[in-house]
Amino acid sequence: MAVTLNTKYLGSFIGKDELGAMEPAVTAAAKTLHDGTGLGADFRGWLTLPTDYDKDEFARIKAAAKKIQSNSEVLIVIGIGGSYLGARAAIEFLKSPLYNSLKKDTPDIYYVGNCIEPTYLNEVISLVEGRDFSVNVISKSGTTTEPALAFRVFKRLVEERYGKDGAKDHIFATTDKARGTLKELSDTEGYETFVVPDDVGGRFSVLTAVGLLPIAVAGCDIDALMQGAADAQRDFAAPFAENDCYKYAAIRNILNRKGKQVEMLVAYDPAFALMNEWYKQLFGESEGKDNKGLLPTSCIFSTDLHSMGQFIQQGSRLMFETIVDIKKPKKDFFLEKDEANLDGLNFLCGQNMSVVNRKAQEGTILAHTEGGVPQVILEMADCTEHSLGYLIYFFEKACAVSGYVLGVCPFDQPGVESYKRNMFALLGKPGYEEAKAGLEAKLGI
Ligand code: PA5
Repeated sequence: MAVTLNTKYLGSFIGKDELGAMEPAVTAAAKTLHDGTGLGADFRGWLTLPTDYDKDEFARIKAAAKKIQSNSEVLIVIGIGGSYLGARAAIEFLKSPLYNSLKKDTPDIYYVGNCIEPTYLNEVISLVEGRDFSVNVISKSGTTTEPALAFRVFKRLVEERYGKDGAKDHIFATTDKARGTLKELSDTEGYETFVVPDDVGGRFSVLTAVGLLPIAVAGCDIDALMQGAADAQRDFAAPFAENDCYKYAAIRNILNRKGKQVEMLVAYDPAFALMNEWYKQLFGESEGKDNKGLLPTSCIFSTDLHSMGQFIQQGSRLMFETIVDIKKPKKDFFLEKDEANLDGLNFLCGQNMSVVNRKAQEGTILAHTEGGVPQVILEMADCTEHSLGYLIYFFEKACAVSGYVLGVCPFDQPGVESYKRNMFALLGKPGYEEAKAGLEAKLGI
């Protein structure tokens, strides 16, 4: 198994029988999920996606990725939330957070439409000057303001560079199969389109074209990614006693009931930073409703031990940590001994740097356990596509099961609409006139 749960450090926080006591609730939640009898049941397509996906489209994704690799030095990925985080997280984890700066034979990838900040947009525009580029615009609804606005800008840039006709070779849209402004616009303009399935919500969509096209453009093996997820689909259908995914869901729930309000996802690898962001959206949007839910937060260690370490060790006892313990780095570094040893560091040397990182991890786990912070360990075999696909499915299923155990709908996000309503009203979108006056009065403008 590419990801396994290690509960070794939980003994002082969770009693011997407590995990077993959760079995009926978790098993019932998993049955609800599989039977499609729970809230949001129409959005369970991700559950079988690794084995039941559109193979023709998968081949088109690979072909489009090859085309972009051959006609572009830069790919601009336009999307936000679930239409953005998964692709970026996978690329940075599998390749590098320094992907764009490293020597490679695949295009640089920049992400826009995930904010409305003009400086950043200007900077990315400057990065395509004089370079061939393509655009992958991703929006399930096809109407989200942030990516729609960025696409308007980049569509014009592509047309200015390649002409209306040439744009068809440089613009790829991932959206609903039939509905929405983006689908209509793409059909009118003749862009190749890819589908976000109806039954897969944004934050569960990384293994659809939403994530797969950019991930393939970066040169990652999307067959192996899907195979990893397929293996997880099989493994995490097992009964509770043999199912680490269900046990993880149970542990989160036990700790939450014992007063922990925060789960901090931790990895000792900066390449995991965007995976942390993906996890935060997955769990935050799925569980954070009806005044319930663990607050998902994250750290990269040892980096953040020098900023957050004090709080974790001795601050408010709000949290537990879930450590993604990556067993093997992509590339190790041998630390040579130094004859003079002027810095006194020879005790660290004559071994690989990953050993030092591991000792930092082991020491921190013990210190944080003693500090009253439960440590849940997810052991991940390596940094391959297969293991990542496995981990993605592990988290998605754990999230859905956790949500049902918590008694919320894990597949909706009604709270996200509030800011949109206010923003549209303040910007004078037709139909929001009344709300505008009320909001302006509150703002005193
Ligand atoms: O998980 C979600 O549903 C959201 O994060 C969406 O993915 C995000 O709001 C973007 O929506 P869309 O893909 O419709 O542009």
